[in-house]
Amino acid sequence: MTENNRADVLLGLQWGDEGKGKIVDVLTPHYKMVARFQGGPNAGHSLAFEDKKYILHTIPSGIFHPGCLNVVGNGVVVDPYIFSNEMDQLNLPLEKLKESLFICSKAHLILPSHRLLDAAFELKKGKLKIGSTLKGIGPAYTDKVARSGIRIADASAPDFRQKYDTLKAEHFSLATSLGCKVEELRLDGLSFDAYEKAWFKGLDRLLAIPQVQSELFVNEALDKGARVLAEGAQGTLLDIDFGSYPFVTSSNTIAAGACIGLGLAPSRIGEVFGVFKAYCTRVGSGPFPTELHGDDGDHIRKMGNEYGSTTGRPRRCGWLDLPALKYAVMINGVSRLIMTKADVLNDLESIKVCVAYEIDGEQKNIMPPACNLQNAKPVYKEIKGWQNDLDQIDTFEQLPPALLEYVSLIEEYIGITVDIISLGPDRKQTLFRKGAGILERLSKKF
Ligand code: GDP
Ligand code: IMO
Ligand code: MG
Repeated sequence: MTENNRADVLLGLQWGDEGKGKIVDVLTPHYKMVARFQGGPNAGHSLAFEDKKYILHTIPSGIFHPGCLNVVGNGVVVDPYIFSNEMDQLNLPLEKLKESLFICSKAHLILPSHRLLDAAFELKKGKLKIGSTLKGIGPAYTDKVARSGIRIADASAPDFRQKYDTLKAEHFSLATSLGCKVEELRLDGLSFDAYEKAWFKGLDRLLAIPQVQSELFVNEALDKGARVLAEGAQGTLLDIDFGSYPFVTSSNTIAAGACIGLGLAPSRIGEVFGVFKAYCTRVGSGPFPTELHGDDGDHIRKMGNEYGSTTGRPRRCGWLDLPALKYAVMINGVSRLIMTKADVLNDLESIKVCVAYEIDGEQKNIMPPACNLQNAKPVYKEIKGWQNDLDQIDTFEQLPPALLEYVSLIEEYIGITVDIISLGPDRKQTLFRKGAGILERLSKKF
């Protein structure tokens, strides 16, 4: 066994959409394996190279690198309909995928009736709705924890159809009792029956992908000296335990989730790469202390193209929130920070950053519990904008002084360095800080 070989984790430090997919794609050449450990098709991870853009929902973001093994871990929930569409949209033929994609047979299936329930629960919540992506994530994880879910392995068992029909009937009865009219419901524009038919077709394709036990597959790869990157979905502030509950997703999005969602011991986690945007965004409901409602928010949305990769919804935009970022760094044990989308702020004359919260007249520089977040008034520090195009920049040292000052402010507040900066959606628009040792660390042999 190679003692020192550990899996690195890459995850989001805000409310999702930090640019995780792009950064995983950039780092993949240094890894043999990329593994998703939680979430499902609520995720939308965008990658861009050779003038094309791709959006991944279920498939890990290492898929475009030949030779990289991509794993969907036990902690992920999978919708065969969405998976099958994803294969087509990405032009990834089954024969090719079979060589580079592996799905844990313990991962749970999202049934069409889980999506039905997601819609029914949101309808029932009315104004208090979560703003779910309506992909059935919450109901699928609910069934997993209630021990009535269906795992991918179950889909090949002789009693599968019976299990499916029993669970579907329970879901229908619950949805109807919540006031949901199944006949009127559309799932991705399809009636329930049409969606279900397509779901079963998708299931046949999904079952053609090799199944593994992710705990054995990943640990054995590490034992053999392979470098593994665990890819998080959503973001720390959407974590079921540590996010702004109840406005969260239904999985553990934090670094510890990689242990549970792949079957890794805590001692097998190496670097934790924390990705954050140079500002904040959030889709769906829930508290967002630094949210901007006026022109600055609209400007950021326009320049950053802040519309959901999964649902197309406009993302709420606001200033960078350092107390929240510091909390996220603590809970994940982040070892390296990665900042994305600074280029979106290029035109701004001045930029604000939240350095504390005022709650009931008192200043606090740690994030208050979710229940108090609603009353937290951000205390801002204002810095001069760099008002420079960053297109021609290829090293950290060439960054405009005002942007370097912004980075220093963040580093001093958080206590660790920003080692990678992303300045655009394309693979190539990425700067590694010299001397930070990331590339040296990633090229080290075990
Ligand atoms: P993820 O869910 O964390 O993978 O992030 P998304 O893909 O949902 O959202 C990030 C969006 O920003 C995508 O449209 C990316 O193509 C884009 N993006 C990533 N990094 C940068 C960057 O540094 N600058 C700009 N302008 N866009 C970026
Ligand atoms: P990636 O991986 C941003 C949000 C939803 C909603 C809440 C619960 O692309 O960063 P769910 O469908 O999970 O029950 O929705 O979480 N949400 C995301 N927001 N990025 C995501 O994923 C998200 N996945 C879920 O908008 O507020
Ligand atoms: Mg996204």
